Amino acid sequence: MRPRADAFRHKTALVTGAGSGIGRELARELARRGAVVVASDRNPGPLREAVDAILQAGGRAEAAPLDVTDAEAVQRTVEETVARHGRLDYLFNNAGIGVGGEARDISLQDWKEVLDVNLHGVVHGVAAAYPVMVRQGFGHIVNTSSVAGLFPLAGEISYVTSKYAVVGLSHALRAESADLGVKVTVVCPGKIETPIYRTSRVVKYPVEKVLSLWPRGMKPETCVRIILRGVERNRATVVVTPLAWTMWLVERASPDLAVGLARLYMKRMRAFRIQDD
Ligand code: NAI
Repeated sequence: MRPRADAFRHKTALVTGAGSGIGRELARELARRGAVVVASDRNPGPLREAVDAILQAGGRAEAAPLDVTDAEAVQRTVEETVARHGRLDYLFNNAGIGVGGEARDISLQDWKEVLDVNLHGVVHGVAAAYPVMVRQGFGHIVNTSSVAGLFPLAGEISYVTSKYAVVGLSHALRAESADLGVKVTVVCPGKIETPIYRTSRVVKYPVEKVLSLWPRGMKPETCVRIILRGVERNRATVVVTPLAWTMWLVERASPDLAVGLARLYMKRMRAFRIQDD
Protein backbone atom coordinates (compact mmCIF):
# COMPACT_ATOMS: atom_id res chain seq x y z
CA MET A 1 0.00 0.00 0.00
CA ARG A 2 1.31 3.47 -0.87
CA PRO A 3 1.90 5.78 2.09
CA ARG A 4 -0.42 8.75 2.52
CA ALA A 5 1.42 12.06 2.44
CA ASP A 6 -0.74 13.37 5.31
CA ALA A 7 -0.63 10.23 7.45
CA PHE A 8 0.34 12.19 10.58
CA ARG A 9 -0.77 15.76 9.83
CA HIS A 10 -3.29 17.04 12.41
CA LYS A 11 -3.51 13.53 13.85
CA THR A 12 -3.42 12.86 17.59
CA ALA A 13 -0.61 10.51 18.61
CA LEU A 14 0.01 9.22 22.13
CA VAL A 15 3.60 8.02 22.62
CA THR A 16 4.73 6.17 25.76
CA GLY A 17 8.35 6.27 26.87
CA ALA A 18 8.74 9.60 25.06
CA GLY A 19 11.37 10.97 27.46
CA SER A 20 14.30 9.11 25.93
CA GLY A 21 15.67 7.18 22.97
CA ILE A 22 13.31 5.89 20.29
CA GLY A 23 10.19 7.30 21.98
CA ARG A 24 11.66 10.78 22.26
CA GLU A 25 12.64 10.70 18.59
CA LEU A 26 9.22 9.32 17.61
CA ALA A 27 7.53 12.21 19.42
CA ARG A 28 9.84 14.76 17.78
CA GLU A 29 9.40 13.35 14.27
CA LEU A 30 5.62 12.93 14.59
CA ALA A 31 5.34 16.58 15.68
CA ARG A 32 7.61 17.63 12.82
CA ARG A 33 5.20 15.87 10.45
CA GLY A 34 2.26 17.82 11.86
CA ALA A 35 0.83 15.52 14.52
CA VAL A 36 -0.44 16.67 17.90
CA VAL A 37 1.72 14.60 20.21
CA VAL A 38 0.71 13.53 23.69
CA ALA A 39 4.09 12.51 25.05
CA SER A 40 4.17 10.34 28.15
CA ASP A 41 6.90 8.88 30.31
CA ARG A 42 7.37 7.85 33.91
CA ASN A 43 10.32 10.26 34.24
CA PRO A 44 8.77 13.75 34.33
CA GLY A 45 12.08 15.68 33.95
CA PRO A 46 13.26 14.20 30.64
CA LEU A 47 9.65 14.19 29.43
CA ARG A 48 9.34 17.94 30.03
CA GLU A 49 12.62 18.51 28.16
CA ALA A 50 11.40 16.41 25.21
CA VAL A 51 8.11 18.34 25.01
CA ASP A 52 9.81 21.73 25.40
CA ALA A 53 12.17 20.87 22.52
CA ILE A 54 9.17 20.06 20.30
CA LEU A 55 7.37 23.28 21.27
CA GLN A 56 10.51 25.35 20.62
CA ALA A 57 10.75 23.81 17.15
CA GLY A 58 7.17 24.93 16.46
CA GLY A 59 5.51 21.55 16.94
CA ARG A 60 2.42 20.70 18.94
CA ALA A 61 2.95 18.51 22.00
CA GLU A 62 1.91 18.11 25.59
CA ALA A 63 3.39 16.14 28.48
CA ALA A 64 1.41 13.41 30.22
CA PRO A 65 3.55 11.84 32.98
CA LEU A 66 2.53 8.20 33.16
CA ASP A 67 3.78 4.83 34.36
CA VAL A 68 2.49 2.23 31.91
CA THR A 69 2.39 -0.44 34.62
CA ASP A 70 -0.51 1.50 36.16
CA ALA A 71 -3.56 0.39 34.16
CA GLU A 72 -5.86 3.06 35.61
CA ALA A 73 -3.38 5.83 34.82
CA VAL A 74 -3.10 4.59 31.22
CA GLN A 75 -6.90 4.52 30.96
CA ARG A 76 -7.11 8.06 32.35
CA THR A 77 -4.47 9.37 29.94
CA VAL A 78 -6.29 7.88 26.95
CA GLU A 79 -9.64 9.29 28.14
CA GLU A 80 -8.16 12.75 28.72
CA THR A 81 -6.46 12.69 25.31
CA VAL A 82 -9.74 11.87 23.57
CA ALA A 83 -11.65 14.44 25.66
CA ARG A 84 -9.14 17.20 24.77
CA HIS A 85 -8.49 16.38 21.12
CA GLY A 86 -11.72 14.64 20.15
CA ARG A 87 -9.93 11.58 18.76
CA LEU A 88 -6.99 9.23 19.11
CA ASP A 89 -5.35 8.35 15.80
CA TYR A 90 -2.16 6.65 16.98
CA LEU A 91 -0.98 4.91 20.10
CA PHE A 92 2.74 4.13 20.18
CA ASN A 93 3.22 1.59 22.98
CA ASN A 94 6.96 2.19 23.08
CA ALA A 95 7.96 2.31 26.79
CA GLY A 96 10.21 -0.56 27.73
CA ILE A 97 13.08 -1.65 29.95
CA GLY A 98 15.91 -4.12 29.54
CA VAL A 99 16.86 -6.64 32.20
CA GLY A 100 19.09 -9.42 30.95
CA GLY A 101 20.29 -12.62 32.50
CA GLU A 102 19.94 -16.36 32.34
CA ALA A 103 16.85 -18.16 33.67
CA ARG A 104 18.99 -19.83 36.35
CA ASP A 105 20.13 -16.46 37.73
CA ILE A 106 17.25 -14.02 37.56
CA SER A 107 14.75 -13.73 40.40
CA LEU A 108 11.00 -13.86 40.12
CA GLN A 109 11.11 -10.13 40.81
CA ASP A 110 13.36 -9.65 37.72
CA TRP A 111 10.81 -11.56 35.60
CA LYS A 112 7.91 -9.50 36.96
CA GLU A 113 9.68 -6.18 36.48
CA VAL A 114 10.26 -6.81 32.77
CA LEU A 115 6.87 -8.38 32.08
CA ASP A 116 5.09 -5.55 33.96
CA VAL A 117 6.58 -2.84 31.78
CA ASN A 118 7.23 -4.53 28.42
CA LEU A 119 4.14 -6.73 28.23
CA HIS A 120 1.54 -5.44 30.69
CA GLY A 121 2.38 -1.86 29.71
CA VAL A 122 1.40 -2.73 26.14
CA VAL A 123 -1.69 -4.63 27.32
CA HIS A 124 -2.78 -1.60 29.35
CA GLY A 125 -2.38 0.63 26.31
CA VAL A 126 -4.38 -1.74 24.13
CA ALA A 127 -7.11 -2.20 26.76
CA ALA A 128 -7.52 1.57 27.06
CA ALA A 129 -7.16 2.70 23.44
CA TYR A 130 -8.50 -0.16 21.33
CA PRO A 131 -12.18 0.18 22.39
CA VAL A 132 -11.95 3.93 21.68
CA MET A 133 -10.52 3.24 18.22
CA VAL A 134 -13.16 0.59 17.48
CA ARG A 135 -15.89 3.10 18.42
CA GLN A 136 -14.25 5.74 16.22
CA GLY A 137 -13.90 3.22 13.38
CA PHE A 138 -10.27 4.23 12.88
CA GLY A 139 -6.93 4.29 14.67
CA HIS A 140 -3.52 2.65 14.58
CA ILE A 141 -1.79 0.90 17.48
CA VAL A 142 1.99 0.56 17.11
CA ASN A 143 3.59 -1.78 19.63
CA THR A 144 7.35 -1.86 20.14
CA SER A 145 8.75 -5.35 20.43
CA SER A 146 12.35 -6.16 19.41
CA VAL A 147 14.41 -8.57 17.37
CA ALA A 148 14.29 -10.39 20.71
CA GLY A 149 10.61 -10.97 19.90
CA LEU A 150 11.47 -12.79 16.67
CA PHE A 151 14.65 -14.69 17.50
CA PRO A 152 15.24 -16.81 20.65
CA LEU A 153 18.15 -14.76 22.04
CA ALA A 154 19.68 -16.59 24.98
CA GLY A 155 20.88 -14.72 28.05
CA GLU A 156 17.98 -12.25 28.26
CA ILE A 157 15.19 -14.67 28.96
CA SER A 158 12.62 -12.36 30.58
CA TYR A 159 13.09 -9.69 27.90
CA VAL A 160 12.69 -12.27 25.11
CA THR A 161 9.54 -13.61 26.78
CA SER A 162 8.02 -10.14 26.99
CA LYS A 163 8.90 -9.23 23.41
CA TYR A 164 7.67 -12.50 21.83
CA ALA A 165 4.39 -11.92 23.66
CA VAL A 166 4.11 -8.43 22.17
CA VAL A 167 4.58 -9.86 18.65
CA GLY A 168 1.83 -12.47 19.22
CA LEU A 169 -0.52 -9.92 20.76
CA SER A 170 0.03 -7.50 17.89
CA HIS A 171 -0.46 -9.99 15.06
CA ALA A 172 -3.59 -11.53 16.61
CA LEU A 173 -5.02 -8.09 17.35
CA ARG A 174 -4.29 -7.02 13.78
CA ALA A 175 -6.37 -9.94 12.52
CA GLU A 176 -9.20 -9.10 14.93
CA SER A 177 -9.16 -5.39 14.25
CA ALA A 178 -8.79 -5.24 10.47
CA ASP A 179 -12.53 -5.39 9.73
CA LEU A 180 -13.26 -2.88 12.48
CA GLY A 181 -11.15 -0.16 10.91
CA VAL A 182 -8.26 -0.32 13.38
CA LYS A 183 -4.68 -1.01 12.28
CA VAL A 184 -1.99 -2.71 14.33
CA THR A 185 1.75 -2.78 13.66
CA VAL A 186 4.55 -4.35 15.66
CA VAL A 187 8.03 -2.83 15.53
CA CYS A 188 11.08 -5.09 16.00
CA PRO A 189 14.31 -3.11 16.13
CA GLY A 190 17.78 -4.58 16.33
CA LYS A 191 20.40 -2.58 18.21
CA ILE A 192 19.62 1.15 18.34
CA GLU A 193 21.97 3.58 20.09
CA THR A 194 19.81 4.82 22.97
CA PRO A 195 20.28 5.32 26.72
CA ILE A 196 18.59 1.94 27.36
CA TYR A 197 22.05 0.36 27.38
CA ARG A 198 23.11 2.67 30.22
CA THR A 199 20.04 1.91 32.32
CA SER A 200 19.76 -1.83 31.62
CA ARG A 201 21.32 -4.46 33.80
CA VAL A 202 22.30 -8.04 33.07
CA VAL A 203 22.13 -10.30 36.10
CA LYS A 204 25.56 -11.91 36.72
CA TYR A 205 27.14 -10.30 33.64
CA PRO A 206 28.90 -6.96 33.05
CA VAL A 207 26.59 -5.12 30.63
CA GLU A 208 29.42 -3.52 28.62
CA LYS A 209 31.02 -6.94 27.93
CA VAL A 210 27.71 -8.39 26.71
CA LEU A 211 27.20 -5.33 24.50
CA SER A 212 30.66 -5.79 23.01
CA LEU A 213 29.34 -8.93 21.30
CA TRP A 214 27.06 -6.77 19.16
CA PRO A 215 27.97 -4.44 16.29
CA ARG A 216 27.38 -0.70 16.64
CA GLY A 217 23.75 0.26 16.73
CA MET A 218 21.63 2.38 14.42
CA LYS A 219 20.83 6.02 15.21
CA PRO A 220 17.35 6.56 16.72
CA GLU A 221 16.56 9.07 13.92
CA THR A 222 17.09 6.41 11.25
CA CYS A 223 15.15 3.86 13.27
CA VAL A 224 12.19 6.23 13.59
CA ARG A 225 12.14 7.02 9.86
CA ILE A 226 11.91 3.27 9.18
CA ILE A 227 9.21 2.83 11.82
CA LEU A 228 7.06 5.66 10.46
CA ARG A 229 7.43 4.44 6.87
CA GLY A 230 6.19 1.02 8.01
CA VAL A 231 3.30 2.61 9.90
CA GLU A 232 2.32 4.72 6.87
CA ARG A 233 2.31 1.55 4.78
CA ASN A 234 0.35 -0.29 7.46
CA ARG A 235 2.87 -3.11 7.73
CA ALA A 236 2.11 -5.95 10.16
CA THR A 237 5.76 -6.13 11.24
CA VAL A 238 8.48 -3.51 10.91
CA VAL A 239 11.93 -5.01 11.38
CA VAL A 240 14.67 -2.41 11.88
CA THR A 241 18.42 -2.97 11.16
CA PRO A 242 19.94 -5.36 8.64
CA LEU A 243 21.12 -7.76 11.37
CA ALA A 244 17.60 -7.97 12.82
CA TRP A 245 16.27 -8.78 9.33
CA THR A 246 18.86 -11.53 8.91
CA MET A 247 18.05 -13.03 12.30
CA TRP A 248 14.33 -12.94 11.52
CA LEU A 249 14.82 -14.67 8.17
CA VAL A 250 17.04 -17.36 9.74
CA GLU A 251 14.44 -18.05 12.42
CA ARG A 252 11.65 -18.30 9.86
CA ALA A 253 13.68 -20.57 7.60
CA SER A 254 14.86 -22.85 10.40
CA PRO A 255 13.84 -22.41 14.05
CA ASP A 256 16.31 -25.18 14.95
CA LEU A 257 19.17 -23.27 13.31
CA ALA A 258 18.13 -20.14 15.22
CA VAL A 259 18.27 -22.03 18.52
CA GLY A 260 21.69 -23.42 17.53
CA LEU A 261 23.01 -19.92 16.81
CA ALA A 262 21.54 -18.62 20.06
CA ARG A 263 23.35 -21.44 21.85
CA LEU A 264 26.66 -20.36 20.28
CA TYR A 265 25.96 -16.78 21.36
CA MET A 266 25.29 -18.02 24.91
CA LYS A 267 28.65 -19.81 24.90
CA ARG A 268 30.44 -16.57 23.94
CA MET A 269 28.49 -14.59 26.51
CA ARG A 270 29.37 -17.08 29.28
CA ALA A 271 33.04 -16.18 28.87
CA PHE A 272 32.08 -12.97 30.72
CA ARG A 273 29.99 -14.60 33.44
CA ILE A 274 30.72 -13.23 36.91
CA GLN A 275 31.79 -16.21 38.99
CA ASP A 276 30.56 -16.78 42.54
CA ASP A 277 33.22 -16.28 45.21
P1 NAI B 1 15.24 4.26 26.49
O1 NAI B 1 15.64 3.71 27.82
O2 NAI B 1 16.12 5.23 25.83
O3 NAI B 1 13.78 4.89 26.61
C1 NAI B 1 12.72 4.20 27.21
C2 NAI B 1 11.81 5.20 27.89
O4 NAI B 1 10.73 4.46 28.46
C3 NAI B 1 12.50 5.96 29.04
O5 NAI B 1 12.27 7.34 28.90
C4 NAI B 1 11.84 5.42 30.28
O6 NAI B 1 11.70 6.38 31.32
C5 NAI B 1 10.48 4.99 29.75
N1 NAI B 1 9.86 3.99 30.60
C6 NAI B 1 10.43 2.87 31.10
N2 NAI B 1 9.55 2.23 31.87
C7 NAI B 1 8.41 2.96 31.86
C8 NAI B 1 7.15 2.81 32.46
N3 NAI B 1 6.89 1.81 33.31
N4 NAI B 1 6.18 3.73 32.19
C9 NAI B 1 6.45 4.77 31.37
N5 NAI B 1 7.63 4.98 30.79
C10 NAI B 1 8.60 4.08 31.02
O7 NAI B 1 14.98 2.98 25.58
P2 NAI B 1 14.79 2.81 24.00
O8 NAI B 1 15.99 2.11 23.48
O9 NAI B 1 14.35 4.06 23.38
O10 NAI B 1 13.61 1.75 23.99
C11 NAI B 1 12.29 2.03 23.53
C12 NAI B 1 11.63 0.71 23.21
O11 NAI B 1 12.35 0.07 22.16
C13 NAI B 1 11.61 -0.29 24.37
O12 NAI B 1 10.38 -0.98 24.35
C14 NAI B 1 12.76 -1.23 24.04
O13 NAI B 1 12.57 -2.50 24.60
C15 NAI B 1 12.65 -1.25 22.53
N6 NAI B 1 13.85 -1.69 21.83
C16 NAI B 1 15.03 -0.97 21.94
C17 NAI B 1 16.13 -1.41 21.27
C18 NAI B 1 17.44 -0.70 21.35
O14 NAI B 1 18.44 -1.25 20.86
N7 NAI B 1 17.52 0.49 21.91
C19 NAI B 1 16.11 -2.63 20.45
C20 NAI B 1 14.83 -3.27 20.40
C21 NAI B 1 13.75 -2.81 21.07
